[in-house]
Amino acid sequence: MEAGQSMPIELDRDIVDRRTYEQTAARFQQAGIRLPKIAELADPRAIYERLGDSLGAVDPDAPDALNLYRVHWHNGSSRRDFTEVPEHLVLPPELTGVEARIIVALGNRFPMIRTHKVLAAYGCLMPRLITGRFDPARHRAVWPSTGNYCRGGVAISRILGCRGVAVLPEGMSRERFEWLERWVSDPADIKRTPGSESNVKEIYDACHLLARDPDNVILNQFNEFGNYIAHRAVTGPALERVFEHVRGDTSLRARVFVSASGSAGTLAAGDYLKQRLGSAICAVEALECPTLLYNGYGEHNIQGIGDKHVPFIHNVMNTDFVAAVSEAGPDCLNLVFNTDAGRGYLTGRRGIGSNSVVRLSGLGLSSIANVLAAIKLSKYLDLGPEDAVLTVATDGAEMYATERDKAAAKYLGGRFDELAAAEAFGRYILGAATDHLLELDRRTRDRIFNLGYYTWVEQQGVSVEDFGARRDPAFWDDLMEYVPAWDAMVDAFNGPPPGADSAGAA
Ligand SMILES: Cc1ncc(COP(=O)(O)O)c(C=O)c1O
Repeated sequence: MEAGQSMPIELDRDIVDRRTYEQTAARFQQAGIRLPKIAELADPRAIYERLGDSLGAVDPDAPDALNLYRVHWHNGSSRRDFTEVPEHLVLPPELTGVEARIIVALGNRFPMIRTHKVLAAYGCLMPRLITGRFDPARHRAVWPSTGNYCRGGVAISRILGCRGVAVLPEGMSRERFEWLERWVSDPADIKRTPGSESNVKEIYDACHLLARDPDNVILNQFNEFGNYIAHRAVTGPALERVFEHVRGDTSLRARVFVSASGSAGTLAAGDYLKQRLGSAICAVEALECPTLLYNGYGEHNIQGIGDKHVPFIHNVMNTDFVAAVSEAGPDCLNLVFNTDAGRGYLTGRRGIGSNSVVRLSGLGLSSIANVLAAIKLSKYLDLGPEDAVLTVATDGAEMYATERDKAAAKYLGGRFDELAAAEAFGRYILGAATDHLLELDRRTRDRIFNLGYYTWVEQQGVSVEDFGARRDPAFWDDLMEYVPAWDAMVDAFNGPPPGADSAGAA
């Protein structure tokens, strides 16, 4: 396969290009860069024992290769230190209006981009480095996304000394572009495509053009199994640890894992949790673009999700629910959770402690959508205080400050006060109902699975056999055999550890 093409189904566990491999390994060794193994990111305790103070001294937002060792869920609130239990929120019933425990793991503790999408990016590039498929001296890593994955990709590329190119729709939040402008080595490495969140076809078209140059390597999160594998191996166990911590010695049950789907990478954690804890899996999308739910399409502002297609790495046949949430909910609750008026309402009228209220800033737009879907499911399944719904906050509110004024203008006549906060809270949280929620059976799973045919076979040229292979649950379980294989290759690629006193040693 040409370097410029992405690999929808071929994955390697052997060196493909030995010369490139050796040159890259030598280059990294010279720069003191050592790649972390997936097992280390899944359970990073050993990293901290080994790196200790040298990692603590590194700014989590700096382009420093040691930040590779923070690409996991166990960063503490300072984002410098290690925490045994990943940072999370347990939302109180006064906030959610339901008795079930809604548990949210916080993604804004991840380094450099403050979202877990940096994990997906590492999961896609690392296998190419350790097989010699990617040559940092020659190739450009092209990261198509609606904003966070491409930031993760640019961050990973930069700290590894590779050239990274971000491809994203021009309508994404100002904060995303400002970050990219600071991190790319050349402004031309930000490629703006027409539209906004759900215009993924336009991103693909731009990538097809870029792929004509063999020096561009497209790392398409929507069909890269590295994204699936990283989340199932790393995010899954992190959520399990959070759940076990919250459960303590009670009889709390992990009933559902809820995740708004963009590339569907995060949903892979659900496959892990279902095996370990028996929890069902719910994919969330925007009501304005209900592709999985109704074969629908449309524009929306829940940035990062709902891209008018079924991702190739979505294990549809293992998905149990689809829930849609209107963009208006996250847009308005972003105001409630992050303004003085909204916080005043939550503390004064709802009796929620001010510390808990401040921590709600850990929820970005898609995270609020996850919470709203968790509330809908809790009502649908009639969950009680012994039931937990697990979900993630992919990013926090810091990515959406400029969206607040837009939301106030669009929904609330430009004015946001405690009365408006009460209206928004009543409408979107207390009023969350069981509408636009589908419990999947064999036929509805088939319908969603088959919908993917038009993107992947007709539009993107995947063979019918490769497309259909993903119907089989064993296909997805077998993917996890790459974890030990790649980890062994990472060890070989890194070479022997340098002396204990070498700076940057891992
Ligand atoms: C803010 C945000 N939320 C949710 C998602 C969806 O995550 P995934 O692509 O793993 O499905 C993304 C993906 O980029 C995102 O940026």
